[in-house]
Amino acid sequence: MLRVARFLLVPLLLIAIALLVLSQTSRPATPPKVLTSLGDRPLVIAHRGGKGLWPENSLFAFERATALGVDMLEMDLHLSADGELVVIHDSTLDRTTNGQGPVAALDLDQLQALDAGYRWTADGGQSYPYRGQGVRIPTFDEVLARFPTTPKVIEIKVPDAGMEARLCDALTTHDQLDRVIVGSFYERSLQLFREQCPAVATSAGPGSVRLLVALNLLGLSSVLSPSYQALQIPERHSGLTVASERLMRTAQARGLNVQLWTINEQPVMRRLLDQGAQGLITDYPDRALQLLGRSTRISALGD
Ligand code: G3P
Ligand code: CA
Repeated sequence: MLRVARFLLVPLLLIAIALLVLSQTSRPATPPKVLTSLGDRPLVIAHRGGKGLWPENSLFAFERATALGVDMLEMDLHLSADGELVVIHDSTLDRTTNGQGPVAALDLDQLQALDAGYRWTADGGQSYPYRGQGVRIPTFDEVLARFPTTPKVIEIKVPDAGMEARLCDALTTHDQLDRVIVGSFYERSLQLFREQCPAVATSAGPGSVRLLVALNLLGLSSVLSPSYQALQIPERHSGLTVASERLMRTAQARGLNVQLWTINEQPVMRRLLDQGAQGLITDYPDRALQLLGRSTRISALGD
């Protein structure tokens, strides 16, 4: 027993010293301009432009969500066959448009000929009010041009396709490097994007979320120096609670802005805000605005 204790003493001491050094030298994230410009109030983030209210990831949705007064627009990026960044969630066209097959199989003009309002229904398929109304898949450039000052959450949906550099170029061209948070479910995409576009705020990838959860459980979160500024997480994943009150408080202490997806019911919104959520990514931004006592009137729309 004594021999085992002696055997473990040196490695344990080294680990303790390493943790002590890390906790002394670690730094919390610095809040990025895109978030400081929004102040301290809870953020209402329109998921895919507010997909419960109008056809997702469309200029129509982004225009109305902006007029509703949301703080940020969330959107998803894919690549067309001819290399344009397009705003659509799925890798295939079938769920949201009157087209079929992979997004990546069609050129931009073919994608934009499709009806992106074709499948939207609010009554379980009894009516399709946006069919034939001219709703189409927008390019990312169109979105940046139409909403130059609106803060955005942008998700890279395709890794290993060169989207990171194209995204950085588009944000640079439109002078919106400090108006967005970029996220992805692909850690390697995020790492590449951070290397190529260091001025842009990012959210934690899945590996970083797992590390934060583990450090939080071990009480070791003070050793973390996040390479990201926002934590965008679901409340639960695979039957486990991710967004515990303790995790959200810990993340805030590490300088992170904690945003929860996809939160659509007001009692859940209220509870999560009380527990430390700083942003709600929601299909129904009107509900979040109402809960927060903010206006739910749609102000004048542009053309
Ligand atoms: O930020 C992640 C959120 O957008 C949820 O993912 O599948 O709706 O793009 P998804
Ligand atoms: Ca998304």
